[in-house]
Amino acid sequence: MDRSAVARVGAVASASVCALVAGVVLAQYIFTLKRKTGRKTKIIEMMPELQKNSVRIKNPARVEEILCGLIKGGAVKLQIITDFDMTLSRFSYEGKRCPTCHNVIDNCKLVSDECRRKLLQLKEKYYAIEIDPLLTVEEKFPHMEEWYTKSHSLLVEQALPRDKLREIVAESDVMLKEGYEKFFDKLQQHNVPVFIFSAGIGDVLEEIIRQAGVYYPNVKVVSNFMDFDDSGVLKGFKGELIHVFNKHDGALKNTEYFRELKDNSNIILLGDSQGDLRMADGVANVEHILKIGYLNDRPTFLHRCRKQPVKTFEQDRLKI
Ligand code: TMP
Ligand code: MG
Repeated sequence: MDRSAVARVGAVASASVCALVAGVVLAQYIFTLKRKTGRKTKIIEMMPELQKNSVRIKNPARVEEILCGLIKGGAVKLQIITDFDMTLSRFSYEGKRCPTCHNVIDNCKLVSDECRRKLLQLKEKYYAIEIDPLLTVEEKFPHMEEWYTKSHSLLVEQALPRDKLREIVAESDVMLKEGYEKFFDKLQQHNVPVFIFSAGIGDVLEEIIRQAGVYYPNVKVVSNFMDFDDSGVLKGFKGELIHVFNKHDGALKNTEYFRELKDNSNIILLGDSQGDLRMADGVANVEHILKIGYLNDRPTFLHRCRKQPVKTFEQDRLKI
């Protein structure tokens, strides 16, 4: 029988990424207290991070059950599968949008103004499709392939040198979410594997977490990696393209990694896009999985959805 339990918790961008780790530590304490005193206390109600107004939980009873499962299993059974852009990295800071991995390159001084203008036009067109609540994933799929193909060939035309990446990232406005140090540090201390699965640019992503001092050995990055020629100039991208809606076969394409983690049957999955919900598809041994979605653009969705009573992004994200 499939014993996997799935819940999705919606949290707005400002919610700290370390909330859950902090929450699980507190919950562990409550759990022990509960056992000692025999008091019936709900873990979910005792976790301050889950009580915030910005957090939406469709089925609290289910989430309670999953949290109990995660706590019982402890660190030895846990693994993290997470998206990067706008999940580990910040969506906005002081009212200003923060860049994705791609935008870090788009905005750098080595890219010509003409190319930057074209990349921005592509982003305006295709990002609207990526987050459109009225389109199905199947409908969005070919548009995403088109976006990535066009955007990557524009970047290749710029002949970017590999040895400038460090400087490009250091000079960018990219930021990791509040609490990232605690998140990565705790997971490293407890030896919890972290699989960062991103449709961004792997080289930029790695440089961001390296510069933030959190690229620990328990972290594995799977993403679109740049391919450089012998003189270190960008000539293309390696391997099969990863875009936001083909993440469902990530586990199947990384069988060796997940085979080694067969005993880590409890998963916390973090994402911000519909496609991220499927990042753990194909993981063979799943006991409990908690899916946390950062609803970055949610205020706009709610506004639109109230006017149009159709299948909405919000329903998709929060349905159990
Ligand atoms: P993620 O899987 O780590 O979230 O990265 C994917 C994000 O990258 C997705 O939200 C779209 C974004 N993106 C850009 O910002 N610019 C681009 O040119 C492309 C192709 C994607
Ligand atoms: Mg993302």
